[in-house]
Amino acid sequence: MPSNTPSTSNGPWDAKLQQFHGGQDWAHLDNFVEDFSVTTNAFGMPEAAKLAAIQSVEHGHHYPPADQEPAKSSLARFLWPEQFETEVDRLILGNGASELIDLVIRMAPEGTWKPGPFHTQYKEYERSARNNDYEMLSSDSADKANVVSLVNPCNPTGDYLDLPELKKWISENTLPGGYVLIDESMQPWHSPQFREHSLTTQREYVEDLYKTQGISVFVMHSWTKLWCCTGLRLGSVVCPTADHMRAIKKIQVPWSVNTVALAFLNAVVTDTVYLEKTWEMTPEWRQQMIDRLSQMFPTWEFHGRKFLSWIWVDTKSEEVAERAIDLAKKAGVPVRSGRPGYNLPTFIRLAVREPAKVNVLLDAWKAI
Ligand SMILES: Cc1ncc(COP(=O)(O)O)c(C=O)c1O
Repeated sequence: MPSNTPSTSNGPWDAKLQQFHGGQDWAHLDNFVEDFSVTTNAFGMPEAAKLAAIQSVEHGHHYPPADQEPAKSSLARFLWPEQFETEVDRLILGNGASELIDLVIRMAPEGTWKPGPFHTQYKEYERSARNNDYEMLSSDSADKANVVSLVNPCNPTGDYLDLPELKKWISENTLPGGYVLIDESMQPWHSPQFREHSLTTQREYVEDLYKTQGISVFVMHSWTKLWCCTGLRLGSVVCPTADHMRAIKKIQVPWSVNTVALAFLNAVVTDTVYLEKTWEMTPEWRQQMIDRLSQMFPTWEFHGRKFLSWIWVDTKSEEVAERAIDLAKKAGVPVRSGRPGYNLPTFIRLAVREPAKVNVLLDAWKAI
């Protein structure tokens, strides 16, 4: 019998049916101060784009454009400032990266699925592969797979492969004719030169892999983190060819990206001031957080590249991690536990936030 009550609840998630993610506590806390449980940008929603989104509600009684324009071309200009006209046909937007992850895996060749080489990684790829009946290989399996997914930089571990290492991993792990899903959602944090380090600008390499081995490389982006708009739902995928993009378009539900999200995207890509302060302040605030935490908890280990919007922390103790999670929640500053989803109960993930908000978290943790 169908029932509205989740069979096994994990907060608002139905633990039997859904993959756990952070970001759900804030709405249930009377004393909410800041959400440390998501990897969004510490600067919050960019103001001008937020205004454009609010104004777009005026057009809420019309359907959104079926070709996702002009927002799609604006994003192409952001990704490829010089070559956007030749690249835009490889790009398609989605209702969050989550929609596109699922669509690409539905189109992928049947067989085996394999994750990136890290301790763990963002789980939606695995969830989608399981739902589509793939045989799951472990990250250290010697076998190549039909479909591989690597999150780079890796949420939550903070590992990052530079392009040569990434290409090596792709060749060592993908079967001819296979699909490669590389998630670069957090890659733009790298630096103002992020494009040079991104797979999005490796057109020749991607074309060559497709021509010589039939391997299709897709580059996924969730834009809900960099531009702090998780509620708007905004993602994209750069496909290996325009034909692959059309294959996604064919199965995508029409108007999946709504008017408000499109207006937001169209405006946000021109906000260079926002990105400059992101590149300048995120590593600084991140390091300050690590320095303060190491003083309070000398045995904790802090993982991840310096430019990232979060810290992956090993407290080395399940009990301590639980206490840290409870105290944070009680103080209105929820953090992400490593237990649900990742099954790493000594770990917690903390978003990088401005010092005043960090003070609230660290005050709460004096009681650990
Ligand atoms: C690495 C990564 N990829 C994709 C997503 C999915 O993002 P969304 O569906 O909000 O765009 C997330 C969200 O946490 C993520 O961390």
